[in-house]
Amino acid sequence: MALFVGAISGTSVDGLDLALIDISDSDISLIASATHDLPSDLKATLMALGQAQGDDLDRLGHADTALGVFIGKSINDFLVAQNVACADIHAIGSHGQTVRHRPTGSDPFTAQIGDPNHIAEATRITTVADFRRRDMAAGGQAAPLVPLFHQAILGDISESRVVLNIGGISNITLLRPGRPVSGFDTGPGNAMLDAWAAEHLGKPYDAGGAWSANGAVVPALLHACSADPYLKHPPPKSTGKEHYNLAWLNRQLPEATQPADVQRTLVEFTTQSITDALGRWAPECDRLLVCGGGRHNTFLMDRLNDLVGLPLETTDAFGWDGDAIEAAAFAWLAHRRLEHLAGNAPDVTGAQGERVLGGVYLG
Ligand SMILES: Nc1ncnc2c1ncn2[C@@H]1O[C@H](COP(=O)(O)OP(=O)(O)OP(=O)(O)O)[C@@H](O)[C@H]1O
Ligand SMILES: [Mg+2]
Repeated sequence: MALFVGAISGTSVDGLDLALIDISDSDISLIASATHDLPSDLKATLMALGQAQGDDLDRLGHADTALGVFIGKSINDFLVAQNVACADIHAIGSHGQTVRHRPTGSDPFTAQIGDPNHIAEATRITTVADFRRRDMAAGGQAAPLVPLFHQAILGDISESRVVLNIGGISNITLLRPGRPVSGFDTGPGNAMLDAWAAEHLGKPYDAGGAWSANGAVVPALLHACSADPYLKHPPPKSTGKEHYNLAWLNRQLPEATQPADVQRTLVEFTTQSITDALGRWAPECDRLLVCGGGRHNTFLMDRLNDLVGLPLETTDAFGWDGDAIEAAAFAWLAHRRLEHLAGNAPDVTGAQGERVLGGVYLG
């Protein structure tokens, strides 16, 4: 038995996800998972840092420390609640919070914060962090990084599967028997839906998609969104909130639209961009497995089911809690780092080759 903890606060900044996993020679199992709410001032700072006009260096430095301290404390609390001693944990894999992701152009970079020194100091557990930048140094997009883990837990010897994560951004992993794993960010996920709901509903998200379900699709808006060049760009590719955000949405908006109609159109845009990506780059898939917070959006899932023309299930039906997979993936990537095994899939990120990912902060 080898226990690892994974921690990630995703693009939506909805909370810190934690997962405790057990890795044995032949099996990976999820023992426990939890989401810890971020203190509201830290959440507001992280949201601000995710916007180009919010990138003040003092704010960044303080948030890096505050988030590292919060992750360390959350992991200690999580382990107490699970009745597991810190000394029994091999390592923590901490993704942190992405505050900027610019994988293309000159001097590309990706920035995650949540100082791992504080996590190692608070827990005395060896902490692996900074998972993305080595892949980028090797010419890759540094994202998505979960596909290898999807392959490890959900790959099948006879069936072609696609794992769809609807997080802040949506990404897919193609698992085809006998072929290298591939995948990419398809485009929008929850982040723009959340931002529009926050502005017009005053809530962090549109629960169950009920508000959007009462709206009507605005054809001119859907058409403008669907013309976005990212969608037709061939993989490898990755994107983030620096592209799909309210400023981008406002540029697509025709005059005189009702907020609920915009939300409805965003659901349509999101589900269409996913189905278009599947049709274009994963046509031979047998089954679609959905994870991430977007699967709780009933209306969005209904629309996806209508459009996709494939058996659609959640990863939960295959034994993996769809809210815990990303955190579990970073626990597993910590194991890969300590075993000197590759953490990236070059066919996904476009890196020149396999690389061992992450920096190690001894406990
Ligand atoms: N009941 C619900 N109804 C509608 N949407 C929901 C519900 N529960 C969660 N969500 C959506 O899921 C989001 C959180 O999803 P998730 O945690 O997978 O995203 P993330 O942390 O940004 O992940 P990633 O790093 O993959 O982008 C919420 O912000 C919200 O949009
Ligand atoms: Mg989340």
